[in-house]
Amino acid sequence: MNLIPKPQHFKKSDDFCNLSDLIFYHIDKEISQSKDVIYSILKLGLKRDLEEKKGCIDFLYNRKIPKEGYNLNIYKDGIRVEASDYVGALYAAQSLRILGEFDLEEPVLECCEIEDYPEYPWRGLLYDESRHFYGVNATKRLIDLMSLHKLNVLHWHLSDDQGWRIEIKKYPRLVEIGSKREQSQINGWRSTDGDGIPVSGYYTQDEIRDIIEYAGQRGIMIIPEIDMPGHFGAALAAYNDLACRALDRPVPWYFGGNIPMRKGIFDWNRPACVSNPKTMEFIYDVIDEVCALFPAPYFHVGGDEAPMGEWKTCPSCQALMKKKGFTNVKQLQCNFINEIKAYVEKKNKRLIGWNEALKGDNLDSNVIIQYWTYMKDNNVSKHLKNGGEIILSKHQNFYFDMPYSQYQLKNTFNFSIKGCGLDPAYRGQIKGVEGAMWTEWIPDVYKFDFHLFPRLEALAEVAWNANSKNYGEFLNRLASFKPILKALKVNYAENSICDEMGFFKKYKYKSQWYHGNQNLELEENKKIKISKEDD
Ligand code: ACM
Ligand code: ZN
Repeated sequence: MNLIPKPQHFKKSDDFCNLSDLIFYHIDKEISQSKDVIYSILKLGLKRDLEEKKGCIDFLYNRKIPKEGYNLNIYKDGIRVEASDYVGALYAAQSLRILGEFDLEEPVLECCEIEDYPEYPWRGLLYDESRHFYGVNATKRLIDLMSLHKLNVLHWHLSDDQGWRIEIKKYPRLVEIGSKREQSQINGWRSTDGDGIPVSGYYTQDEIRDIIEYAGQRGIMIIPEIDMPGHFGAALAAYNDLACRALDRPVPWYFGGNIPMRKGIFDWNRPACVSNPKTMEFIYDVIDEVCALFPAPYFHVGGDEAPMGEWKTCPSCQALMKKKGFTNVKQLQCNFINEIKAYVEKKNKRLIGWNEALKGDNLDSNVIIQYWTYMKDNNVSKHLKNGGEIILSKHQNFYFDMPYSQYQLKNTFNFSIKGCGLDPAYRGQIKGVEGAMWTEWIPDVYKFDFHLFPRLEALAEVAWNANSKNYGEFLNRLASFKPILKALKVNYAENSICDEMGFFKKYKYKSQWYHGNQNLELEENKKIKISKEDD
């Protein structure tokens, strides 16, 4: 069996379904929201048109099936699906597509019975298009691949220091200035090298609407992230008076590390001024436009890694601290995030922030916390104790931008709540899990694929089925799944890269990734692929 994620219940029989007999299809209207997408998946396998009529492939509404779940029965002479919503029907079609290898030349479908539903309602992927920009087609391809894996949240990181990627009509300089940088840092965190290749690109609001609709048809909700008050450099390059000090700085081309220091630039990493009414007005205006575009009932404010030094010397920030009775700047950050929370709640949206947002001890527990940091953060346990909700993106399990020599594939598969340092008794407050594709060192889709696959399969597995604990069994299924990835032209990492690297190789690749050639693993993977083709 090649199905990933593993279904909750699966029973196989020895018969085969005769695909050439299947000439009719039908979908009940309660579950037919974007039935063209389902139809296009069926057509992949049948390689011909189908007539709309009950009797061969039937998608039936059954209100008792869990949300996003489905029952799938494949008989010799027909296919019967039951679902209570469109996404469940879509996932049944995706399962058919994988089981029958519809993407390959000659589909063969074995008879079976499946009862299936997700473990977590939130099965996400963070997609950083600030550091590198991939565009509409690459984004739709990613959405298709996520849908194939039954992932349902695309967390779109649309702004950061190194690029602003969403058109905001009221502030045109955000894309005119903020979406362009002169080049990108290369060769690791300690290097001062740039690649000399300018980076630019942004989405118009029309393109965003188009992508949101495309994703919705494929069962995916898109959550926008506008990272504030730190990681705000691209916005400050466009409108320098949003900071505590109005310094003229270009969009940074370095991602951090030592470059700015070595080049004598000590003030590139500055936050928004959180006490300036003009800054707050700008932020509310941006939120208005972003929230009007994205129908999802969530807004992600970032809130990670905010450098707070500027607030200590800014007279206006100091005055606000005094007025509020705050004793440290971390409380000022919480206050800022609380204000944004109240603002988006008026739009019936919930706010999400990274776990550093909890630093100031005065964060409203209604903010959903996304827990990413490598080190244990006791504030997250406190937040759970206060009744707060979280999304798990722990570095060790879910940071897919890291090299495989640091985090092997099994790191993702072996995810557990306890392994994240949390009490499993809080399971009910964990909305789900999210992989993170940060893209500082990922200039193109070829390398993006390499980091993401087959980690996306492991992510889908842990997000969907908490009972899948046997790594060897998962790897067997993965081996049968890979021909589909290959047919879809996905540049996945080979086994010897993602798990089987020896100690010395791991050491070398990891140190090179941090401080030298960040493409060593990618280059090795390419060699393995070429030698396989030669066989
Ligand atoms: C993060 O990785 N700074 C959320
Ligand atoms: Zn200030």
